[in-house]
Amino acid sequence: MHMSYETTPKTYTITAALPYANGPIHIGHLAGVYIPADIYARYLRSKGHRVLFVSGSDEHGVPITIRAQQEKISPQVLVDKYHQLNREALEALGISFDVFGRTSSAQHHQTAAAFFSALYQKGVLTAHDTEQYYDNTYQQFLPDRYIRGACPKCAYAEAYGDQCEACGTALSPEDLLAPRSILSDAQPVRKKTKHWYLALEAYAPWLKQWILEENTAWKPNVYSQCKAWLDQGLRPRAITRDLSWGVPVPLPDADQKVLYVWFDAPIGYISATQTWAAERQVDWEPFWKDPQTRLIHFVGKDNIVFHCIMFPTMLKAHGGFILPHNVPANAFLNLHGDKISTSRNRAVWLPEYLTNFAGKQDVLRYVLCSNAPENKDSDFTWPDFQAKNNHELVAIVGNFIHRTLVLVHKHFQGKVPERMHLTHLDQAILEKVRDIPTRIGDAIEQYRFRDALQHWVDLARLGNKYLSDTAPWHSVKVAIEPVQTVLNIALQVVGNMAVLGTPFLPFTSQRLRNMLGITDTTWPIQGDTAVLHAGQQLQPPVLLFERIADEVIQEQVERYT
Ligand code: 2FM
Ligand code: ZN
Repeated sequence: MHMSYETTPKTYTITAALPYANGPIHIGHLAGVYIPADIYARYLRSKGHRVLFVSGSDEHGVPITIRAQQEKISPQVLVDKYHQLNREALEALGISFDVFGRTSSAQHHQTAAAFFSALYQKGVLTAHDTEQYYDNTYQQFLPDRYIRGACPKCAYAEAYGDQCEACGTALSPEDLLAPRSILSDAQPVRKKTKHWYLALEAYAPWLKQWILEENTAWKPNVYSQCKAWLDQGLRPRAITRDLSWGVPVPLPDADQKVLYVWFDAPIGYISATQTWAAERQVDWEPFWKDPQTRLIHFVGKDNIVFHCIMFPTMLKAHGGFILPHNVPANAFLNLHGDKISTSRNRAVWLPEYLTNFAGKQDVLRYVLCSNAPENKDSDFTWPDFQAKNNHELVAIVGNFIHRTLVLVHKHFQGKVPERMHLTHLDQAILEKVRDIPTRIGDAIEQYRFRDALQHWVDLARLGNKYLSDTAPWHSVKVAIEPVQTVLNIALQVVGNMAVLGTPFLPFTSQRLRNMLGITDTTWPIQGDTAVLHAGQQLQPPVLLFERIADEVIQEQVERYT
């Protein structure tokens, strides 16, 4: 049954997509990438694995330079601002990165340039002269998102030079119909320039074997997107750009050229690891070169091709690196039925949430995990946020825990009562407690975080039903002994919830563990039916969750309607 449940300690390198430092983190990033990655990292640590959880700011590329031009500041000033903002906000949400690097760092520039040089020396890069769009007024080439036009596939008029957001097709600027410069809005001219290409097509047979034959366990949405790309046929991919912001191309005849952002960004995982290791005087290589290490990339669906095809090809071509063990990509989270969009300022931004809902980090973690777009796009709405808080966290989880603790304080002065004679029902509850760590663990190890969280909530459902079935508040008037047993067992459920809830709701679990005096958060193989000992004194209960009022929700709803 527990096929995936891993028991021998391993080393895991867990990466979470580097957010562009051109705006704040929003709930789409959180549900798609950071919350599942954090649950996974915390879970594996608690099982005793060696985990390095890596992310950082993606500080290069056209999304950065366009935003800096709009705000009339330099790219460096822009990325300094959002790097700090995002690092702090993610930390405040309890995302437990071991390192949060940045791609404008000296370490990153050096590592990315060396990576390019290694591929160049191996002969896997080819140079071509091409004609590319150029804006005469601004005297600038127009790569990627500097150009807009109609999508050749679906005719959407505002497609970007690298991708059509309406139909998802990956594009090159030359593919666009009626192209316009986003700088001058004029029709661009063509101008000759030289670029370096990664010979993806040469790796197609290997990629087909590696992904389609050897990685059949990848999530269906990831596997099928890879298959579609591979069936379509791969073309050489330009990995340099005519821009002045980025990692300079380390070749003599490459003035004013930088590495393509999608070439340097994934190398950011490696350079961040190197920075982390150098600060601690440990070796970075086991995290990237030991074949026993498991490399897991958490990304959104628009990043699949880069993490499943392009970056693995770079690693393979370079040699000496391990390849991703899995890329558990999620689909997109919508907001009140429509796309989240940074450029249209249509999002729930993490820094704002943390201000408006101070102390409620776990509510957001809970709602976004239970609603994560694991297999298909999902929707965030404020009424649903309220319902999940009021009807699940307050009415199911909080209610069970609080009732149990209050009864123990009322009838036993807060001391864990002893367990005496066990009925069939008592035994059935203890049996479920024994099973629960592997149920939750199995789901997490298969990247089914929604299910995993529901198994945890089910413990509270089970506990609530157990309390109603045994009604200790009535039976206490008849005899104390059965009540001791019931409350001892209910407390074991609470104690297991405190330990097993830690990856999902770290703040709440910590508060609960403080009340219970539990310090060990090791993930047990089997649910501990004596996690709390008879006679142990518990702290006075405090409420873990509180209802969120309609007015609070209404205020948020009005911003999107
Ligand atoms: O899509 C994005 O937001 C990119 N900044 C993700 C980069 S992931 C990695 F390759 F660095
Ligand atoms: Zn399209």
